[in-house]
Amino acid sequence: MKFFIDTADIKEIRETAAMGLVDGVTTNPSLVAKTGRKFRDVLLEICDIVKGPVSAEVVTTTHDEMMKEARELAKLRDNIVVKIPLLPEGLKAVRSCADAGIKTNVTLCFSATQALLAAKAGANYISPFVGRLDDISTDGMQLIGEILEIYDNYDFKTEVLVASVRHPIHVHQAARMGAHVATCPFSVLMQLAKHPLTDIGLAKFLDDWKKVPQ
Ligand code: E4P
Repeated sequence: MKFFIDTADIKEIRETAAMGLVDGVTTNPSLVAKTGRKFRDVLLEICDIVKGPVSAEVVTTTHDEMMKEARELAKLRDNIVVKIPLLPEGLKAVRSCADAGIKTNVTLCFSATQALLAAKAGANYISPFVGRLDDISTDGMQLIGEILEIYDNYDFKTEVLVASVRHPIHVHQAARMGAHVATCPFSVLMQLAKHPLTDIGLAKFLDDWKKVPQ
């Protein structure tokens, strides 16, 4: 299972990359806005740190505009994956990107049929937003299971990238289901490493070590 970090914060990326937890990065306009920096500068800095796929989102809504952005983004670095919203115009852009050899991550997916269309269009990744579905009392992880089943039925090559991850249980379930990727905020990656028995056990070992003659 691949772990991507869902952030545009360079410090968070460096910290988790040092732990071997960053197979890739996903950004979105909201995450980039939090940095207060120019999108291009942030993106290039991320690509200097991470050699795996780095998702960069378009901010237009027609095929031609999205393709213009996609071409510009893809030119920046080889590992940039263009993030395209799941709209009819977006699907056209995904198809054109596939034909042009530009990798895509289809974002804002909230149903299995949307995911089916993204795979048909030739997306490299589909990003179902599990946390935002949970927020409206719909089981986000159930959707992941459905998409994996459908993709498996037809041997689609599109990778299921679990997005809008809010807590460790999302990651645990994603791994059990065999999702290809989970993109996690820094806080969730840190939570995954924590266990109270680890902390208690370490405190005891360090305390007992003081009793060992040096
Ligand atoms: C996915 O690529 C998005 O950047 C992200 O996972 C959205 O998460 P949120 O619902 O916590 O904003």
